[in-house]
Amino acid sequence: MSVRPLDGRHRTIVRLGHPALRQVAEPVPAERFGTRFLRDLERDLLRTMFEDNGVGLAAPQIAAGVRVFAYFVPGEGDEDEVAPRVLVNPTLTLLGEPTELGWEGCLSVPGLRGLVARHPGVKVAAFDPDGVPLAFEATGFHARVIQHECDHLDGIVFLDRMPGMASLMFEEEWDRYATDRELPVEV
Ligand code: NI
Repeated sequence: MSVRPLDGRHRTIVRLGHPALRQVAEPVPAERFGTRFLRDLERDLLRTMFEDNGVGLAAPQIAAGVRVFAYFVPGEGDEDEVAPRVLVNPTLTLLGEPTELGWEGCLSVPGLRGLVARHPGVKVAAFDPDGVPLAFEATGFHARVIQHECDHLDGIVFLDRMPGMASLMFEEEWDRYATDRELPVEV
């Protein structure tokens, strides 16, 4: 990919309580594809995501109310690596039932982790920042990251998707006591 992630500006990630996290973000109009606006947003999201050690970051998390997010899949365990990328105006087709439990955290809900139920797969249609259409399917960790990020575009955070609050933990206690030690999704 053409973006050098550290070109952008580091942006402040807003936390739960900031109204941007609870608003439905606006689609990016076609005339803004390929413009400075989206290129800057792409670089800023990637830079901030890397510097704050996330695997995903949605525009509402930097108080930008548009339907754009950055993510990557590190490719640990049996997951295929996905290089850092930015999706614009994504739409999801959810595959299967939301029955897969996995650990999630969120840069906008710092310090906490919880078990979240997600669909095992998603079909994604989106655009890259230049307006090139993208269509692909994702499963497992990849599908989880995408569902978490798309939720941010609709004002939803992972806490809303937890089937119950009993698994909610601080990170330090998670490190010490969590029994299912799969890699948490920190987005
Ligand atoms: Ni998040």
